[in-house]
Amino acid sequence: MKLLVTIFYAIIFLSSLFSYYLFKKERRRHKQTARLPPGSMGWPCIGETLQMYSQDPSVFFASKQKRYGDIFKTRILGCPCVMLASPEAARFVLVTQPHLFKPTYPKSKEKLIGPSALFFHHGSYHARMRKLVQSSFSPEATRKLIPDIETIAISSLESWANGQVISTFLEMKKYAFEVGILSIFGQLNKTYTYQLKENYSILEKGYNCFPTKLPGTAYHKASMARRRLNQILEEIVRERKENKLVAGNLLGHLLNFRDQKGNTLSDQQIADNIIGVLFAAQDTTASILTWILKYLNDDPKLLDAVKAEQKAICESEYGGNPTLTWAKTRKMPLTYRVILESLRKASIISFTFREAAVDVEYKGYLIPKGWKVMPLFRNIHHNPEFFTDPGNFDPFRFENPPKPNTYMPFGNGIHACPGNELAKLEMFVLLHHMLMKYRWELVGSASLIQYSPFPVPEHGLRVSAPFVLDKIRELAPSLRMVHSINALTWPFCLDSSERVVAINVSI
Ligand code: HEM
Repeated sequence: MKLLVTIFYAIIFLSSLFSYYLFKKERRRHKQTARLPPGSMGWPCIGETLQMYSQDPSVFFASKQKRYGDIFKTRILGCPCVMLASPEAARFVLVTQPHLFKPTYPKSKEKLIGPSALFFHHGSYHARMRKLVQSSFSPEATRKLIPDIETIAISSLESWANGQVISTFLEMKKYAFEVGILSIFGQLNKTYTYQLKENYSILEKGYNCFPTKLPGTAYHKASMARRRLNQILEEIVRERKENKLVAGNLLGHLLNFRDQKGNTLSDQQIADNIIGVLFAAQDTTASILTWILKYLNDDPKLLDAVKAEQKAICESEYGGNPTLTWAKTRKMPLTYRVILESLRKASIISFTFREAAVDVEYKGYLIPKGWKVMPLFRNIHHNPEFFTDPGNFDPFRFENPPKPNTYMPFGNGIHACPGNELAKLEMFVLLHHMLMKYRWELVGSASLIQYSPFPVPEHGLRVSAPFVLDKIRELAPSLRMVHSINALTWPFCLDSSERVVAINVSI
């Protein structure tokens, strides 16, 4: 018996030794054959952080790509990084060899969102959570939300139409938050929605701030808000369990989950994934909606064409009924192409981060273990080889599908966006009601880009609040068409020949 045990341990020891030898050999082989990608690591520690932040990051990456090619190294915020600006390299990292690269976020950010949120994970936990999130946001599940999303869109638009100047981005954030809450909880009472909104907005203010436990700082306030969010979510979960309200929304799926051994998810895992989804859903959708309005505003002919499409689809087939259905959204090719082109041109998620889990060799280059790896979506979307005249906003380019792996506004592979159908639907619904019923005007300049952290036009695109066209037509029946309204000249508006017409209305 003793001999058997000794043999067993000897085998374990020898096989460990052998694996270690193979591992070392493999590493040496990489080191001998592969070399680091070209590029500059900048100053010790800070690397090229200052260069990147002192200019538009997309200009920084584009100039590097021009100088070094599609794969180059740099050091940002103390981390050595390999940037990948070709579709093949992005595919290698995200789709074909994703197990070699793990998601990576600063610990301070992970703590605020919640460490169990799916996008911080890799492997079996990620796969299980992803399946669950994907089924909650499948096209079938999303479709059912249309009437409720419409209600939110209509009430958001009505709340803007009070003659003030609004920041489009901030208003779109409110809209996206409400839709996020709807898709996670289904119907949720107003008190909970208010409490979640209040605390979530404190959380996001601290998200990009210096992490410290010092009371009074934005990060500390955010940590406190995160704790309160846990309590609110626990309360909602308790109520839902008590009332057996575990329907087909995300919370329902999280509550119904059982693994192979019958284990359920903990309250913490549920809370982290809910906050994670809210985080992933809000600013992204709000930012792209803001860009869509900017691009349409910059091209009045295109705006008219999109409006005409919206109007035609309702009038021709549905007797003028402005209510949206899934079928209607499938019959708006121009609107859809405007959405696709906005996602390409704005490329609000310019790149993503991964970390090499082992030494990796790609096209003769070594990506050492622990280095950050960044597929650069924006550079690919703005490469003239894949998108002719990429700086031009041209929705008609999507009459033909883009080349494979060149279009990734929602990422690619095992971490690709599970909320993409919902995001597109939110855009369709808001655009439809806004274009059919409202008119707005830009206030001030919108030529610069601000990062918050997603790119948005400066000041979040300030517009004079949308005015209800029908209401104006009703009050000024002599006007054949209200051509333009300016918040500054309110309560005047211009008729189609640009004559100022005074109408004494308050909407
Ligand atoms: C226009 C709006 C949106 C854009 C451009 C966008 C883009 C992206 C991208 C590029 C990724 C992949 C990130 C990576 O690979 O590291 C991603 C992941 C994710 N998105 Fe979105 N997203 C949007 C809206 C939404 C919405 C509405 C939801 C929720 C319903 C959502 C939920 C998620 C989640 C949970 C992940 C993580 C998936 C995983 O790690 O498996 N996103 N999104």
